[in-house]
Amino acid sequence: MWHPEPTVRHSIPEARWPTADEAARALLFRPVRVGALTLESRTWVPAMVPWRATADGFVTRENLEWYGRFAAGRPGAIVVEATGIRDIPSGPLLRIGHDRFIPGLKELVETVRRESGGHTRLLIQIIDFLSVKRRPDKSKYFERFLAVTDRHRRALSELSEGECWLAREEREVRAFLKGAPDDVIERVLDERELESLRFGYRERVTDVHLPHVRNLPKVLPALFADAARRAREAGFDGVELHYAHAYTMASFLSRRNDRRDGYGGSREGRVRLPLEVYAAVRARVGGDYTVGVRFLGDEVIGGGSRIEDAVYYGVEFARTGLDFLSVSKGGKFEDAKQPKVGQAVYPYTGRSGYECMPTVLSDGRGPFGRNLPLAREIKRAVNAAGLKTPVVATGGVGTFELAEEILRRGDADIVGAARQSLADPDWFLKVKLGRGDEVRRCTYTNYCEALDQMHKQVTCKLWDRVALGEQGIALSNDGRRRLLPPRWEKGGEKGKGGKGEEE
Ligand SMILES: Cc1cc2nc3c(=O)[nH]c(=O)nc-3n(C[C@H](O)[C@H](O)[C@H](O)COP(=O)(O)O)c2cc1C
Ligand code: SF4
Repeated sequence: MWHPEPTVRHSIPEARWPTADEAARALLFRPVRVGALTLESRTWVPAMVPWRATADGFVTRENLEWYGRFAAGRPGAIVVEATGIRDIPSGPLLRIGHDRFIPGLKELVETVRRESGGHTRLLIQIIDFLSVKRRPDKSKYFERFLAVTDRHRRALSELSEGECWLAREEREVRAFLKGAPDDVIERVLDERELESLRFGYRERVTDVHLPHVRNLPKVLPALFADAARRAREAGFDGVELHYAHAYTMASFLSRRNDRRDGYGGSREGRVRLPLEVYAAVRARVGGDYTVGVRFLGDEVIGGGSRIEDAVYYGVEFARTGLDFLSVSKGGKFEDAKQPKVGQAVYPYTGRSGYECMPTVLSDGRGPFGRNLPLAREIKRAVNAAGLKTPVVATGGVGTFELAEEILRRGDADIVGAARQSLADPDWFLKVKLGRGDEVRRCTYTNYCEALDQMHKQVTCKLWDRVALGEQGIALSNDGRRRLLPPRWEKGGEKGKGGKGEEE
């Protein structure tokens, strides 16, 4: 994984945990209004893909157990992983692109209600993404994928000093390029073709020569609206529109979006489709349903959007009626590492990926609360515009003190913790009960994220080899890891009679 150079290795910070009385007075455990909802506390588990759906996108028993396990820790809200809005195959990622997915999603909602004792609100992140192909083998690329044109023939003629390629047959061009050295290939292929060869073909929202990409502004509002309607029907408390990271909607917001059809170029153009999508969703689900957005405070790529853009978007989103603003950072394809042949490019392997999920191999600033300045600036601007839309801040938050400080300073209204909640889904409850010293603390070294990269079922290194012999536990496909952390034994002196524990 990418990390800053020179590298500073950080230790996870000492934590001072509150007593149950202190926790009862803490801002973190105070309710907060999020659109039509009230969260019981300001604790939030952001979306995390666990690779547990069926190959055709249905909820599995493993999904139910996974979300049920997070619910047992009673966070204010859980956001279900990025869930595809189209009815197309997309591997073992959840889907919501057809009514046949509703029954499974309903069961997910019921599981979370039951396991949290009704304390946790459940949202679902809905996503659209464009096509990304695996990196091809060089021979295959030249035999099958490259669309040979006269541009290639002309380039070959120029290179071969007199030998005329213009009349040569396609199969000869392919055969020659297949065996050509890199420097020749670099002079014959254009930038996109080279990218397809080295990284795998990847569509962009700016590929307006492709009718389905040109028409995205026509089709996406209805696709998102239908997905949100299904989420409501399944019983979710709200939806989160995924406008972050490497996916379609974030690419519309990107400064790199230079579409000339009114959906790119200026900030107003770039935010147009995201606002139209929201309007369609709102019209479909009604005014009494929570609809929020996750977007980037900074894309962290050359020529990409920066905090000034994000501040503008945040204010526009709040003004138009989005119910919460969840701020993330980076996670782009543009600076991702070259994948191995046969694998797809993964948007969390470059610098922008690092900034999305920073590790302890960092720079002087370290990973803890690293993304907070972005949330702070967005919140300030939103509030200065006279709006109170709650802001969710996430990124390297794994202690009560940091979470509480964020709220006390007014940097955000809600605190998200993804990896810390994966390391210990009971951690919010432990803190609330004054048993913070029992929290299993995330080490921020991203073993979980490496599993995600390999499309393997996501687990945490702190618990996935513990008590493997335990009766009835679910194991990963390779049988080597448990899929859920052991249950937290709540018995014990400090926990006895803890309010909120048994109700
Ligand atoms: C395994 C894994 C899967 C993730 N999947 C998603 C996702 O589906 N949608 C999303 O917006 N963010 C996703 N993220 C990013 C997290 O929501 C979060 O923003 C990031 O991990 C930084 O927060 P943290 O420091 O609290 O972990 C994922 C993170 C991890 C570790
Ligand atoms: S594997 Fe566990 S400890 Fe490591 S970063 Fe992920 S959640 Fe944290």
